[in-house]
Amino acid sequence: MSENILKVAGLKVAYGGIKAVKGVDLEVNKGELVTLIGANGAGKTTTLKAITGTLPACKVEGTISYLGASLNGTQSFRMVERKLAMVPEGRGVFTRMTIHENLLMGAYTRDDQAGVDADIEKWYGVFPRLKERSAQLAGTLSGGEQQMLAMARALMCHPTLLLLDEPSMGLSPIMVEKIFEVIREVSQQGITILLVEQNARLALQAAHRGYVMDSGAIIMTGNAQDMLHDPRVQAAYLGE
Ligand SMILES: Nc1ncnc2c1ncn2[C@@H]1O[C@H](COP(=O)(O)OP(=O)(O)O)[C@@H](O)[C@H]1O
Ligand SMILES: [Mg+2]
Repeated sequence: MSENILKVAGLKVAYGGIKAVKGVDLEVNKGELVTLIGANGAGKTTTLKAITGTLPACKVEGTISYLGASLNGTQSFRMVERKLAMVPEGRGVFTRMTIHENLLMGAYTRDDQAGVDADIEKWYGVFPRLKERSAQLAGTLSGGEQQMLAMARALMCHPTLLLLDEPSMGLSPIMVEKIFEVIREVSQQGITILLVEQNARLALQAAHRGYVMDSGAIIMTGNAQDMLHDPRVQAAYLGE
């Protein structure tokens, strides 16, 4: 049996009268790259926010367990201590800090300075643009560069689970390719990933399993390769 990392059951979220998430069940097992795809407004970001505790608890119903323990009510800043890292929609880098400082912030729970320095060098190797600009304020980076920095910062804590919210959004095709290359590589290194994407084709090509979300509900789930070849997915999400 594969080890369960994240299990969401009966998740419901309402914003006032608007039911954004209407009873979502999803699971991510150890080592998996699972993608949650769906149109704009489907409730994907809301689902991730519920997982990371960034919504007021009164809006959230259902259970969320991570490594077998409940995450309900855990404050979001505690998540990194539990090795759950998230790259939010719109990236969320610290714009008034340098690139180097952003990477150090990602490692604030660690006390192995030599390991932290080695990791920063590793990410500078993966993203040479960040190295060239290491002393520059993160707010001066392009969207694609900020996405790279946000991913590298999230990975500085050596997460057990990495949550990514639309990493390809607003990026040029070359940047999208680079970001997906890194997502695949991180996955191959054994980090478990839940990837939210509107770019269904790229996401399903990279993922092991997928979930399709529509109007707050999961309407389909399965093996990512099977989903890529499913006529319903092709018609609704792949433009075929
Ligand atoms: N803070 C909020 N207040 C009210 N409604 C919201 C809020 N955030 C999202 N919504 C609504 O919830 C629904 C799902 O949004 P969201 O989770 O952002 O979808 P997705 O990430 O799939 O595009 C949408 O109808 C959106 O308008
Ligand atoms: Mg979203």
